[in-house]
Amino acid sequence: MPRQSSQNTSKRLSQYADRYRLTIPEAQIELPSFAEEVSTGLSAAERSLPCRFFYDEIGSKIFEEICDLEEYYLTRVERMLLRERAADIAGHFDQGATLVEFGSGSAGKTRVLLEALLAAQASLVYVPIDISRSAIEESAEALLREHPRLSVHAVCGEYETALTVLGNHDSTPRLVLWLGSSVGNLHKPQAADFLMKVRAGMAASDRLLIGIDLRKNRERLERAYDDSLGVTARFNKNLLTRINRELGADFSPEQFEFRAHYHEDSGCVESSLVSLRDQSVQVAELGQSFAFQQGDKIHTENSYKYSLQEIDELAALSQMRCETRWLDDDDEYSVNLFAPV
Ligand code: TRP
Repeated sequence: MPRQSSQNTSKRLSQYADRYRLTIPEAQIELPSFAEEVSTGLSAAERSLPCRFFYDEIGSKIFEEICDLEEYYLTRVERMLLRERAADIAGHFDQGATLVEFGSGSAGKTRVLLEALLAAQASLVYVPIDISRSAIEESAEALLREHPRLSVHAVCGEYETALTVLGNHDSTPRLVLWLGSSVGNLHKPQAADFLMKVRAGMAASDRLLIGIDLRKNRERLERAYDDSLGVTARFNKNLLTRINRELGADFSPEQFEFRAHYHEDSGCVESSLVSLRDQSVQVAELGQSFAFQQGDKIHTENSYKYSLQEIDELAALSQMRCETRWLDDDDEYSVNLFAPV
């Protein structure tokens, strides 16, 4: 009963009224609804579903399972790097800082940074921004319980909202986190575009700490995105069950196969669901039906990988520079501190 549990979380959070607030801004830019996106995405010649719909309450939980997988090294390596470097990172802010996080999710990796900052300053404001309200509330409750000197000013919204939030600030320097190689979910030119907007909201003393997965061999990458336990397949197929549940469709998820393919030239791991037979799917809410032939593909996600040079280019394109970079011993993953120029 997930709905029940999140109501309880909201209730428990009320005891932290002086240290917790949640803002759900009116979207500045009205993004198309789930129904609209499903309708256009499944009608197109190259079918696709936008990845922002992965993270409903169930999807967010399955994503946590992905993060615990041995094969999905991204989370583990990033967490290790943050643990090792938290004090160095916090050391960049001798006057203290506010911590802002894009796509905070369960905030599992944020803890070490938060604690490193709290060790050096009397109090800390943490601004998690995420599309999943349940993920925000659950993580906020745990963090507030553990850290009496912490305040959480949460914002529930999409990346566009995050940019607006970034634009409003006082004089306290901010450490802006964008972890999990989420930048890789944008095409490379769009990533530069987005970071340029992030840059526009940053003051000179603000820093962006951005986790970026690196180019590496195909097997390693394709295993990370198509794990042997089938958790990522379940994560992707949850999109189909979500369409069934919310839009009255009759997808049979087992009639689709999940695939991850690495395009070496562009550095993109492409995730998709492929129809295992000729079939037709009705979506009651849309009054539409969609015909699939065997082998037809629904594109679900791009995960671009970068070389170190490409990361420097990305920084330069967005009017920042990479001030410090940390890599693991195997050069699999990077955590980069970008400064405005
Ligand atoms: N956006 C994350 C990434 O690209 C999340 C993710 C992991 C993901 N595995 C996935 C998204 C498979 C879609 C399909 O690493």
